[in-house]
Amino acid sequence: MYVCLCNAVTDKAIRNAVRQHGPHTIKQLRSLVPIGKDCGKCMRQARQILLEERAAIIHLHKVA
Ligand code: FES
Repeated sequence: MYVCLCNAVTDKAIRNAVRQHGPHTIKQLRSLVPIGKDCGKCMRQARQILLEERAAIIHLHKVA
């Protein structure tokens, strides 16, 4: 599913970037994928995906 229509960035691309590079903030995520560079309507959903993926990563570390 497209999260950022202006730059054709999908939720999968954002999740992959979080898993591979582990950004802590939306600013760090923006340096990895071109989100929020135009209208900015995608930022809320991108932030939510960042939080979900970080929570999943933390959960995996606790289980391992
Ligand atoms: S939808 Fe992402 S900048 Fe417009």
